[in-house]
Amino acid sequence: MGAFSGRGIPRHVGIIMDGNGRWAKRHGMARTQGHLEGLKAAKRIVKAASDMGIGYLTLYVFSTENWKRTAAEVGFIMGLVRQYLRGEMDFCRENHIRVRHAGDAAGLPEDIAAEIAETVEDTKEFGGMQVILALNYGGRDELVRAVRRLVAKGAADGGLLNAAEEDIAACLDNPDIPDPDLIIRSAGEYRMSNFLLWEGAYAELYVSAKLWPEWTDADLAAAVGEYRNRDRRYGGIAANGE
Ligand code: FPP
Repeated sequence: MGAFSGRGIPRHVGIIMDGNGRWAKRHGMARTQGHLEGLKAAKRIVKAASDMGIGYLTLYVFSTENWKRTAAEVGFIMGLVRQYLRGEMDFCRENHIRVRHAGDAAGLPEDIAAEIAETVEDTKEFGGMQVILALNYGGRDELVRAVRRLVAKGAADGGLLNAAEEDIAACLDNPDIPDPDLIIRSAGEYRMSNFLLWEGAYAELYVSAKLWPEWTDADLAAAVGEYRNRDRRYGGIAANGE
């Protein structure tokens, strides 16, 4: 635990890591260099979140829409994912980090899907923070796959026509993971971009103008600090009746 007591800390934080390309452009570099710096920022933030006592951290690494980028850029990002999965095992062991995947593994290059499955398996007993890599992930795609799973199961007590929220939630990619309390987006855009559409229904949103490669522990602390001052009502009324 760092500077926080634990009370009011978000249990689950999701991050839309945006702005790698803009960071590279500002520095007169290729977009790939921005992603490389983005990976360094992701490592910093994983460590900071773990030290802070956050339970679950979902990183939006690659969306179902990101395949529209050039083959070279896609290949570079997949290479970074491979590098991350191979290089972080010691860190995961030391910090008891459990790695999970959200997204459609069937649509990933086979070697990447296999590396993810291996890391998920190798870290499954670790009881510290869980890092969920959203990779080939789209909120709508996840819902489509959840509905297909529900149909395949034959659903729901009382049949598919009586399917309830819990039945759909139980068919999401990681049904045991609590909904995100806080969703952070870097680089100033006020959009969800197909991230955790179902799970984020009541998440607090925090948008920062800072580009992702520039993110440090202090930025995460500022986001969490603001979250702790938010009044969460879940469609109800405030504790003081206002
Ligand atoms: C968005 O910036 C970033 C991405 C689509 C890639 C995110 C990938 C990483 C941070 C590296 C891999 C990380 C892990 C944890 C394996 P953008 O390219 O859309 O930026 P722009 O909007 O400024 O062009």
